[in-house]
Amino acid sequence: MVECAKNAYLPILAATILCEEQVILNRAPEFADVNNMCVILEKLGLKVKRQGGALVIDGANATPRFVPVDTAKLLRSSIFTLGAMLGRFRRARVAYPGGCDIGLRPIDLHLKGLRDLGVKITESHGVINCDATELHGGTIALDFASVGATENLILASVLGKDRTVIINCAREPEIVDLCNFLNKMGARIYGAGTGRIEIEGVARLNGTEYTPIGDRIIAGTYLIAGALTHGKIEVSGCNSIFFASLIDKLRYSGCFLRAKGDKIYLKSPKTLKSVGLIETQVYPGFPTDLQAQLLTLQTVSKGCCVVHENIFESRFKFVPELIKMGANVKVRDCTAVVEGVADLSGAEVYAKDLRGGASLVLAGLRAKGYTTVNDIYHIERGYCNLDKRLIELGAQIRREE
Ligand code: EPZ
Repeated sequence: MVECAKNAYLPILAATILCEEQVILNRAPEFADVNNMCVILEKLGLKVKRQGGALVIDGANATPRFVPVDTAKLLRSSIFTLGAMLGRFRRARVAYPGGCDIGLRPIDLHLKGLRDLGVKITESHGVINCDATELHGGTIALDFASVGATENLILASVLGKDRTVIINCAREPEIVDLCNFLNKMGARIYGAGTGRIEIEGVARLNGTEYTPIGDRIIAGTYLIAGALTHGKIEVSGCNSIFFASLIDKLRYSGCFLRAKGDKIYLKSPKTLKSVGLIETQVYPGFPTDLQAQLLTLQTVSKGCCVVHENIFESRFKFVPELIKMGANVKVRDCTAVVEGVADLSGAEVYAKDLRGGASLVLAGLRAKGYTTVNDIYHIERGYCNLDKRLIELGAQIRREE
């Protein structure tokens, strides 16, 4: 059973700023990013406590305090507090966010959309100062279907008297989950999961209890672990429709997969076949967050595979580490060409970001001999107990403090 989705939990945690009543979020994962988001909420005056695996959050005393750089840089999702604070308090000051070093990670689409809603924004010394006393509805056309910008604009538009329409918005399952959560609290959001979302402002949100969706990226990571090691694996807790593009690739590589409800079973073939081409795209295309894991599988698949990373500018930092393990990969700009080899060999490697780091663990499961993956704090931002879970699946892995 996979954990709840990090990328659903984070915007949903930010959304609790909008509610003056108690909210209970079930199955709260122990990801570092979730824990850090809770730290930010507490700095904004919300009461947050873990209770029997859930997070109990009370936003009665929330206040639009400044989110300084030492807090904001903890994670990319700190930027979601901006939209939520503007939604409830009509003002906010936040430092630029942090997040995985996989590209420039600008927030120009967030700020352009907020300005289109009448928010006055000045930026100085790495801090974003917002005055939303004249926040109004309107129609925003996003230049790119940005997940974060879509979520921030929804959070800014939920409370009020106006109607806001977001065109060319992101369609990820995590966006739908955020909107389902907000609607359960009394919001009026329509069209989530399509390229056009409409938000009718409401006066207030009511407390609720909610369980976010399962993490499709973690589910996909485990399936690829099974494929890499010629194993059999069953993953549950996430609707397989959320990663249909990966299932298609794994079938093409020769794996047998059987999906039923929120369970999916994979049996790996003796010889894996290259999938030929991987193009990362916005949902429902192939997710950038599974690019590193599937590229790792290609390093030991028969044939040649071309990988185009179309979403982030710098998401091949894990490749030099794979090459240390004997992989045959050439990278030019946002394209990687992978020639499958018979096997990888263990080596001392270094995680550089969350998904690339997890992929090095996967490579180590397949490689002959020992692999040491260093700087695993990157991985723990979005996976918890990865070592323990893999041991349950038969891996020989140990954590060294
Ligand atoms: C979210 O990041 C996810 N993070 C990422 O997951 C995921 O890779 C990404 O969406 C794409 O699916 C969370 O949800 C916390 P974007 P986000 O805005 O919101 C450019 C993981 O491993 N862009 O859709 O930052 C941007 O530079 C993480 O779990 C602008 O140009 O993604 C990038 O090239 C990594 N201007 C592209 O859009 C903006 O204002 C996609 O960014 C915003 C984004």
